[in-house]
Amino acid sequence: MTIMVTGGAGFIGSNFIFYDLKKHAGDRVVCVDKLTYAGNVSTLKSVKDKPNFRFVREDICNREAIYAIFEEEKPDVVINFAAESHVDRSIENPDIFLKTNIMGTVTLMDACLKYGIKRFHQVSTDEVYGDLPLDKPEMFFTESTPLQTSSPYSSSKASADLFALAYYRTYGLPVSISRCSNNYGPYHFPEKLIPLTIVNALADKPLPVYGKGENVRDWLYVEDHCKAIDLIVRKGKAGEVYNVGGHNEMRNIDIVRLICKELGKPESLIRYVTDRKGHDLRYAIDPTKIHNELGWLPETKFADGIKKTVSWYLENRDWWETIVSGEYRKYYEKMYGKRQ
Ligand code: NAD
Ligand code: TYD
Repeated sequence: MTIMVTGGAGFIGSNFIFYDLKKHAGDRVVCVDKLTYAGNVSTLKSVKDKPNFRFVREDICNREAIYAIFEEEKPDVVINFAAESHVDRSIENPDIFLKTNIMGTVTLMDACLKYGIKRFHQVSTDEVYGDLPLDKPEMFFTESTPLQTSSPYSSSKASADLFALAYYRTYGLPVSISRCSNNYGPYHFPEKLIPLTIVNALADKPLPVYGKGENVRDWLYVEDHCKAIDLIVRKGKAGEVYNVGGHNEMRNIDIVRLICKELGKPESLIRYVTDRKGHDLRYAIDPTKIHNELGWLPETKFADGIKKTVSWYLENRDWWETIVSGEYRKYYEKMYGKRQ
């Protein structure tokens, strides 16, 4: 089958492309990516010359161009990873989050309606549920937890989810949605907590921890997320939402300390900096539905996944050293200069 993967030059999309081409050798994968600051075409170098892979540089908001790609490729399945994905950037500039995350998703679904599709899958996030209190460890997000977003990022993702469900109900478009917890692994852009900490620690630079570092995230190795999406697209039901998470909750400060330990760096690099505005306290997913219906379970334990991830950053310096020069430096100065 032909799968259109949008945002495939980013972190999770690229890992999904590697997984799909390995698992389903008969698939044709068409990657559509605008190559924003977060997209890196060099990430796809191991697949770019495969006869069953095509890369198209395009914006998912460009209706005419998206329709032309559909006309040519007639994809069976569209998996939408393309998004502005960083909460801190959404606080600085919400506008582009509305455009890409909401308008882009709607444009893709309009194309799916026009050209016909077996499945449109929206890659969403647990952040649409807002946050949970730190002192109620028995509480988890289920698929029926009300949407109660905190940031412009999560609000844009929740809006896209609602549009996807509306296209299912109103037009009968076969959509599915996955809401996953925080991912980590290879090709993670070094503005996010885990890769930023690794990259800064390697350079003996300060490791910024927001607030007291007590906020909790539920970390999942990226390949486990890719497996979940593959299962949902092939075996999950249309019109359904599936939560994806690994019951692996950790405080930010413990993550940063663990990375220091893995790299043999001193904890004296840690700096407590001004907290994020509206900072969500705790995310925790209940993945019972995807486990019961599709048999999905996370396979990589955090202790192993973080070792693999740290090794990947050690072995792939070229990939991130190119990124942390140029534009990234300006971003870093703007975001962290005022925080210290
Ligand atoms: P990322 O920022 O690493 O990658 C996003 C990709 O989308 C980039 O390649 C970028 O160039 C591309 N893109 C951005 N705007 C585009 C546009 N208008 N048209 C075409 N391409 C565009 O993000 P990620 O971490 O890989 O996240 C992928 C998806 O998964 C997002 O939808 C995100 O909301 C969701 N998600 C992420 C996490 C996580 O922990 N990273 C967790 C749950 C869900
Ligand atoms: P992040 O990786 O941006 O993911 P998200 O906001 O989508 O969960 O942040 C993970 C957690 O780490 C979040 O609680 C904010 C915190 N954080 C820091 O403490 N320092 C940092 O430099 C960054 C980028 C994040």
